[in-house]
Amino acid sequence: MPARLIKDDIYAVGAIHWNERRFHGHTYVTKRGVTYNSYLILDEKVTLIDTVRKGFERELIDNIQSVIEPSKIDAIIINHIEPDHSGAFPEILKICPKAKIYGTEKARQGLLKYYGVSGDWTAVKSGQNLNIGKRTLDFIDVPMIHWPDSMFTYSAYDKILFSNDGFGQHYATNKIFDDEVDFAVLMDEAQKYYANILWPFNALVSAKLGAISKLNLNIELIAPSHGLVWRKHIAKTMQKYLYWSSHSCKNRVAVVYETMWRSTEKMARKIVDGITSEGVEAVLFDVTKNDRTDIASYMLDAKGWVFGSSTHDGEMLPVIAGFLHFLKGSKAKGRKSFAFGSYGWSGEATKDIEDAISNVTSFDTSLRVVFNPTEEELNQCFEAGKAFALKIKNEEEIL
Ligand SMILES: Cc1cc2nc3c(=O)[nH]c(=O)nc-3n(C[C@H](O)[C@H](O)[C@H](O)COP(=O)(O)O)c2cc1C
Ligand SMILES: [Fe+2]
Ligand SMILES: [Fe+2]
Repeated sequence: MPARLIKDDIYAVGAIHWNERRFHGHTYVTKRGVTYNSYLILDEKVTLIDTVRKGFERELIDNIQSVIEPSKIDAIIINHIEPDHSGAFPEILKICPKAKIYGTEKARQGLLKYYGVSGDWTAVKSGQNLNIGKRTLDFIDVPMIHWPDSMFTYSAYDKILFSNDGFGQHYATNKIFDDEVDFAVLMDEAQKYYANILWPFNALVSAKLGAISKLNLNIELIAPSHGLVWRKHIAKTMQKYLYWSSHSCKNRVAVVYETMWRSTEKMARKIVDGITSEGVEAVLFDVTKNDRTDIASYMLDAKGWVFGSSTHDGEMLPVIAGFLHFLKGSKAKGRKSFAFGSYGWSGEATKDIEDAISNVTSFDTSLRVVFNPTEEELNQCFEAGKAFALKIKNEEEIL
């Protein structure tokens, strides 16, 4: 993808990883691919903001080259050292001999650990800035959103916030701006990204958004290092970040289960029927057939979390166990849950489920049946779903 102008003298020069399908090891299924955005500013000091993943150096360098000779780069800003943004850094350092590097002290330490090089480094933090000619770039450190080294860079001259992983989406496209793609797809990817990357940091995100809003920045573009540049929907994405980070939930329920011989699945279907009979939205997820990434995205703002598993060798089944292990890290709040499942003789699965994520939700009494559920037991499942939906609705009224 060639370099693209996003504002006068500012080019997107990053790379597109069209067919990346597993990001962060196997934790994030990126079914629309990934981009590694990097921005080149032509001013008195030619400045590069962030680099790309290792393996994409050529694309980045070619893009820079199409605009300006890379050796002319005077400043490189490292907003975040994770390898998807810093992998090309050592190569870029070699071809930009006069470049001075700016980032947090944590970023410098991290780059040294990864690559053994950090270049001619100036440590920066919130309140400090860099004049590059017409522009003064302000640094806003955002520690633990989502790594200790993370920061944003703001150009008041251009009214652009370079937000690195903040406001990102994993969405490979040759389009550059939010209004050039389908809005529903964009927001779906933004929510998935939040749920899978930023959810554990809600408190920090919320506090930082508050602090940033006090700075009264004039923002016309948010240029993240993944996905589309926000131009038309800035208010919408900000509002969504406020909503997600405040643990707000919709009146809806995710019913997530795993089964061997479908007894637990029969229970799950009846529970869903019971929930929806009260007019509450419920989605049934067989955890073995859905990407964890998508289920987590739905659960991000679902008030009800219901989990089912049959018992296997004295434990819950392994795929749901993995999913719950992932959810445990979300640090979610304000959910309502219950566990259910079919078993043969010992039935540990429901207790296993409760124990696995007791840090993020509290459980009502569980529902268990031996082997294949009878009609009467299926009715109990329906009633349990109905009662659960009522509880969710009533609580919303109190709020
Ligand atoms: C390999 C295997 C191991 C099992 N281990 C247990 C067990 O340790 N404790 C128990 O209560 N049931 C155990 N069961 C019985 C199942 O939990 C029971 O058949 C249940 O109805 C399966 O529900 P499902 O159709 O939703 O998978 C086991 C079944 C299989 C196939
Ligand atoms: Fe990151
Ligand atoms: Fe990233």
